[in-house]
Amino acid sequence: MSAVSFQNVSKVYRTAGRELKALDGVSFDIQPGEFFGLLGPNGAGKTTLISILAGLTRASGGSVSVLGHDVVNDFAAARKALGIVPQELVFDPFFSVRETLRIQSGYFGVKNNGAWIDELLQGLGLADKADANMRQLSGGMKRRVLVAQALVHRPPVIVLDEPTAGVDVELRQTLWHFVARLNKQGHTVLLTTHYLEEAEALCGRIAMLKLGRVVALDRTSALLAGTASTMMRFKMDQALPAELASHARVTGRIVQVTAHDTAEVERVLQILRANGCQPEDLEIGRADLEDVFLEIMQGAPRSLDQVKVAV
Ligand SMILES: Nc1ncnc2c1ncn2[C@@H]1O[C@H](COP(=O)(O)OP(=O)(O)OP(=O)(O)O)[C@@H](O)[C@H]1O
Ligand SMILES: [Mg+2]
Repeated sequence: MSAVSFQNVSKVYRTAGRELKALDGVSFDIQPGEFFGLLGPNGAGKTTLISILAGLTRASGGSVSVLGHDVVNDFAAARKALGIVPQELVFDPFFSVRETLRIQSGYFGVKNNGAWIDELLQGLGLADKADANMRQLSGGMKRRVLVAQALVHRPPVIVLDEPTAGVDVELRQTLWHFVARLNKQGHTVLLTTHYLEEAEALCGRIAMLKLGRVVALDRTSALLAGTASTMMRFKMDQALPAELASHARVTGRIVQVTAHDTAEVERVLQILRANGCQPEDLEIGRADLEDVFLEIMQGAPRSLDQVKVAV
């Protein structure tokens, strides 16, 4: 049985007489024990899909189940199997961190949860804030509490919607260490993030959403191998020659150009030289997930029969 199953899910938002198709026939399954990444640009529909999974939003069509429990017809069982870390920070300012976690345990009917709450506080670096009021915490600390809250009832399926947005490097590492441990113990993880190096390091499989449709779905290693591109990275003060613009990415002084083989690398260098450009700190390496992501997102909208789906 799948840990999570999305079957032909669609969602139309109607606001001020306008219709917006946020999800358009999304179907994929996540198997128990997977560390699964859901990626896509802002507005792609990731949070909408997670809200439907969490039972917070109704799908306009299709169905979603968690460990075989339909999220509409069997809501209580589905919700109990899920631990959801929402993208938005929501909390009650009147309770302390520990009280917040106790209340959440009670919500799921879990009693005598003290030892696990202590472990969560420890594992997420919140032990010294256990008795602090929620409103006294910094933004990153509040996010840690949201993670702890999602995990109080030891859900088999953990869903993290951009858990590391605005979070410092140290906590990110703590958080990943903790979540990776839970995944090794058998918990299924569904993660959305805009930090693609995190997704590349953690996720065994990845689905990419664009305008509410799945445009890629495969093992992370296969997505990376699929492009087979070499990336040239260098710094440059001059403007990029027009001939290179179509397969280059420029961030300030840093230029990244794809090249499929040595001959292409030479051709790029020739064009640069012919245009009087002086690249510095030239590095040549393999394309990473960010390159794959941009290639897929910049590509012409694919029809569903072109979507690469691994079984
Ligand atoms: N409650 C709502 N009412 C109307 N439109 C909405 C609502 N929630 C989301 N949308 C629209 O649906 C689309 C998908 O939004 P969603 O929040 O799912 O994107 P996302 O992939 O999570 O983006 P981000 O990376 O910015 O979090 C967007 O165009 C958004 O404006
Ligand atoms: Mg979102």
